Amino acid sequence: MSAIVEAFSRYLPPKVVTNEELSSLMETSDEWIQQRSGIRERRFVDAPTTTSDLAVEAARKTLGALQGKSVDAIIAATLSPDYDFPGIGVLIQAKLDLPTIPAFDLRNQCSGFLYGLELATALVQQEQYERILLVGAEVHSTGLDLSTRGRDIAVLFGDGAGSCVVSREEARATTGTGLRVLRSELHGDGAHAPKLWCEHIGSAHFPHRMDASLIEEGKCFPSMQGRKVFEHAVKRMVEVSLSVLEKEGITPEQIRFVVPHQANARINGLVAEQLGIPGERVSQTITHYGNTTAATIPIGFSHVLEEEEIHQGDYLLSCAFGSGFTWGATLLQAV
Ligand code: ACO
Repeated sequence: MSAIVEAFSRYLPPKVVTNEELSSLMETSDEWIQQRSGIRERRFVDAPTTTSDLAVEAARKTLGALQGKSVDAIIAATLSPDYDFPGIGVLIQAKLDLPTIPAFDLRNQCSGFLYGLELATALVQQEQYERILLVGAEVHSTGLDLSTRGRDIAVLFGDGAGSCVVSREEARATTGTGLRVLRSELHGDGAHAPKLWCEHIGSAHFPHRMDASLIEEGKCFPSMQGRKVFEHAVKRMVEVSLSVLEKEGITPEQIRFVVPHQANARINGLVAEQLGIPGERVSQTITHYGNTTAATIPIGFSHVLEEEEIHQGDYLLSCAFGSGFTWGATLLQAV
C-alpha cells in the first residue's frame, strides 16, 4: 500500500528583508552573506503573526486543493512554536476549525519535514488514517540576535511555511501530480546537540528556566559551530541520499530533481557535486527565503511542482540535515 504526497502549498510573509537591511543592524555585508551562504533576502513576519498563523495560511491552500475531502490527522513540524506548550498542531486544528482530529508535534528542526513525512507515510500505510495534513512552519525572525554578536546565525534564517497532504493511495484527494513515497531513511546523533542549539528556555537551567543572566549571555538565541555543522551536513546528506538510492536500485542520473534542505547554497552545491547531479536539477530557494528550517522542503516542492516539468514516473529526491544532529533522505516518484 502506497502513500502519496499531494497538494504542496507555501506561504511566505510579505515583508522582504534584504542583506543591506541586515547590514544596518549588525556588522555584515551583502557580499559576505551572498558569498558564504547564497542568500540575498529573506521574509520576516510583522507582529503579531505567529508560526501557527503562517502554518494555517499554507494549510488553507493545501486543504483548498482537496476537492472537498478532509484530513483525519495533523502533523506539524517546527522549532519555533507559538508557545512553550502546547505545540502548534492543535493551534492549527483550532484556527482551521477542523474537528477534534489528533495533532502531532515534531521537533526535528531542519529535518522536521522528512521526519513528519516518514511518520505520515507509516500511519496511512497501516490504515490508521486516510489523509494527514503535514505542515512545516517557522518564525525565526523574533528569535534571532540581530546584533553583531549573533550575525553568524541571524543572516541565515527566514520565516515561512509549507504544507501538503499525505494520503493513502486509494484515498487520494487530488487529480494533480502526486509523489509516491518509495523509501526514506532517517538518522539522529544527539552527541552533537551543543554544536547547534538554543539552550534557553529549558529544564536544564536551575533553579529557574528563565532568568535575566541567561538572556544577557544570549542563551535565549541559537548558537552554532558553523564550520563543523557545515562539514557534517555535506557528509551526512550525501551518505544518506546514496544509501536510499542504492536500496531502491536507482542511480543519481535517474533523479529528475533534488529538493534538499536549504541551510547554505554552498552545502547544496557540494552535495549535488558529490552525488553527481547537475546544479540545474537541484532546487534553490535559499536565495530569496534563507533557511526556513522545517518549512524549507515543502516550500521547495511547491516551487518545483509549479515551475519544473515533472512527468509521471520521474524520481525526486529530498535530503536534510539539521540540529540534533538529525538527518535523512526520502525518494519519491511522480504519479
Ligand atoms: N557577516 C560578516 N562576517 C561574519 C558573519 C556575518 N554575518 N558571520 C560570521 N562572520 C565572520 C566570522 O566572525 C569569522 O571571522 P574571523 O575569521 O575574523 O573569526 C569569519 O566571518 C568566517 O566565519 P566562518 O564561521 O568561518 O564562516 P563560514 O565560511 O564557515 O560560513 C556559515 C559561516 C555560513 C554559518 C557556515 O559555516 C554554514 O553555513 N554552516 C552550516 C549551517 C547549517 O547547515 N545549519 C544546519 C541547519 S540549521 C538548523 O538545523 C536549525
